[in-house]
Amino acid sequence: MAAAPESKEGKSPEELLCAAAKSGDEDEVARLLASGADATHFDAAGLTPLMHAAAGGHAAVARLLLECGAPWNALSPSGLSAGDLASEPDTYDLLLDHALRSELILGTVARRQAAPANASDSAPAESYLESRVSFSEERVMDAESKAVMMAWERPLMEAHARAVCQGGGKVLNIGFGMGLVDEAIQRYEPEEHTIVEAHPEVYARMLKLGWGEKKNVRIVFGRWQDVMPQLGSYDGNLY
Ligand SMILES: C[S@@+](CC[C@H](N)C(=O)[O-])C[C@H]1O[C@@H](n2cnc3c(N)ncnc32)[C@H](O)[C@@H]1O
Repeated sequence: MAAAPESKEGKSPEELLCAAAKSGDEDEVARLLASGADATHFDAAGLTPLMHAAAGGHAAVARLLLECGAPWNALSPSGLSAGDLASEPDTYDLLLDHALRSELILGTVARRQAAPANASDSAPAESYLESRVSFSEERVMDAESKAVMMAWERPLMEAHARAVCQGGGKVLNIGFGMGLVDEAIQRYEPEEHTIVEAHPEVYARMLKLGWGEKKNVRIVFGRWQDVMPQLGSYDGNLY
């Protein structure tokens, strides 16, 4: 995007955008975006306009920024996303909903791009499965510091678990990540809870955390595409 000209008091449009987002000035944010201010900007403190809007609880401003391409998953220098910084439920819900939609769309696009022309078992991100991942209380990151899973997505995982366990019986989850959905599934005490995980380090962490000793849990290590013959039939599946 071509940079918009400098304006008020010699500040760049992006600095003005951050200030307007921080104060919740919806009209000013709309004006600046319409005149070309960059919604993806990081200010001197390493924060985006969306992070400022989220921290201030300005949901309408956050919506405008998301509509103009503000990255919902950008991280501050201390590793916090706009969702982590959201101070009000409305802003948090907006970001969660946007993240969910983005993930669904991007996931669909990625699967289509990766799919061999005539095969239904699309190639997974092999490079990811071979790369190092790092864990913290708040997130799992891949080797490129992209978030694989973030703790603030917990409510979404809870909703998934409720949906997948509603029929009782046997439950299958593909991909452990931070274990958020599996922790939630365990609270429903399913008869059998199978977890398929392909990343060696995520698998090792599952064992370290004691998931291998839970009496109703069965862990299958490998790509779901490869381990299908080892799986049974389930009352609830989550992928
Ligand atoms: C977004 S995370 C899942 C988050 C999880 N639902 C939670 O609550 O934390 C995706 C997980 O799927 C795993 N994974 C990726 N490709 C896979 C594949 N082909 N088969 C099985 N697991 C896979 C990743 O290693 C990662 O642990």
